[in-house]
Amino acid sequence: MRLTVIGTGYVGLVHAACMAEIGHTVIGIDLDTDRIEGLTRGRVPFYEPGLRELLHRGQESGRLRFTTSLAAAARSAQTHFVCVGTPQRLDSHAADLRFVDAVVDDLAPHLRGWCLIVGKSTVPVGTAARLGARLTRIAPEAEIAWNPEFLREGFAVQDTLRPERLVAGVLSPRADAVLREVYAPMLRAHVPFVSTDLPTAELVKLAANSFLATKISFINAMAELCDATGADVVTLADAIGRDARIGHRYLQPGLGFGGSCLPKDIRALMARAEELGLGESVGFLRQVDEINTRQRRRVVVLAEQLAGGSLSGLNVAVLGAAFKPGSDDVRDSPALAVAEEIHRQGARVRVHDPEAVDNARAALPWLQFTLDVPKSCEDADVVLHLTAWPAYREIDPAELASVVRRPAILDARHTLDAARWRSAGWTVRAFGRPKLGRDPGEGFR
Ligand code: UDX
Repeated sequence: MRLTVIGTGYVGLVHAACMAEIGHTVIGIDLDTDRIEGLTRGRVPFYEPGLRELLHRGQESGRLRFTTSLAAAARSAQTHFVCVGTPQRLDSHAADLRFVDAVVDDLAPHLRGWCLIVGKSTVPVGTAARLGARLTRIAPEAEIAWNPEFLREGFAVQDTLRPERLVAGVLSPRADAVLREVYAPMLRAHVPFVSTDLPTAELVKLAANSFLATKISFINAMAELCDATGADVVTLADAIGRDARIGHRYLQPGLGFGGSCLPKDIRALMARAEELGLGESVGFLRQVDEINTRQRRRVVVLAEQLAGGSLSGLNVAVLGAAFKPGSDDVRDSPALAVAEEIHRQGARVRVHDPEAVDNARAALPWLQFTLDVPKSCEDADVVLHLTAWPAYREIDPAELASVVRRPAILDARHTLDAARWRSAGWTVRAFGRPKLGRDPGEGFR
């Protein structure tokens, strides 16, 4: 099939590359001339495992091209995927829909006959119907569909080629058939295909992310209870996660969620519910958000406790800048938010990250960054472990103890071997594990 993919961000570029990989002829379109020029020359604008190879293969085969010209591309295909961003508005919690609106307005005049405009962007429920009405005023035979994207950063290619489910919000059997044809290899591999109406498809995405965010904040709320009662949250999460109805995934306690989706999506769902007069129905999401941001403040308080008072004038080493391991993305990164707050309190902050230093430096140029763990910890009064990169588990605590001023570490992601660090002379603290500091041999694995 011939497809266009409008928007070459995380979702669009991965989708374009994966659609070419499964045999479609794809044109990727973006207004950003630098990005399109770079892509044409084989430059990948962000790190995502497997993407470089896919882009290369697609372009070599001639099945994948990039352009800034929507007009020319629009006439070359009948199916157009809309993958532009829907960031949080600056003046409210609602999603900013100006980019999706603009795509429909720009695309419509170039459409001839029946064609399918498939939204993949995350939008408030009701957007697809509104866009459909807007579209058919200019291109009466064109049809809208919604096909939300569930990819995780770091697994984007894998999640697109082997998704756990496909969701298609459609208005006609013809649209349903087109989407089944687009995803034919996945359907042959028995990926479930949920065909539904437009509002359900739009809502599935925000509901899924809100559920995941709720699960994370739930376990972080339990960590606060553990701190007050002497219980251990890691053991608690393990024990409740063994109930198959609950499961272990998204039950990892710690500094909480960040990134470009979870925080903005729960806020967008709250904002839309309020518009519909249903704010109370999803009122719990406000608490989910509050619990999440509270974890960032708790790190600062715990760091002060570890330092024995104010952080002002102290050296603080921060391990991790990315919003999660396996990514170089620092958008709404909990780790960077903590680094910035500690800097504001007058500490000298040195941040290490194996992949995200360039992006982090661009966001917060006044902090110090390094690619070398011992360097980030030189003369440190406190070390904060804020992003769960696997490489941090391999650190030799005895070696690191020789470069710091005081061997004190806060493991805000619960992935370090506390016993090993303690036997190398470190004071170790972690949320929801109050016994870690006091009672050797008990309460940690
Ligand atoms: C998320 C959704 O998973 C994906 O389906 C959607 O399409 C986009 O948003 P992503 O933002 O890539 O994907 O991150 P994800 O892997 O879900 O992690 C989100 C955040 O939650 C990260 O900051 C991570 O560190 C945190 N997290 C995750 C926890 O704190 N605990 C957990 O148990 C799991």
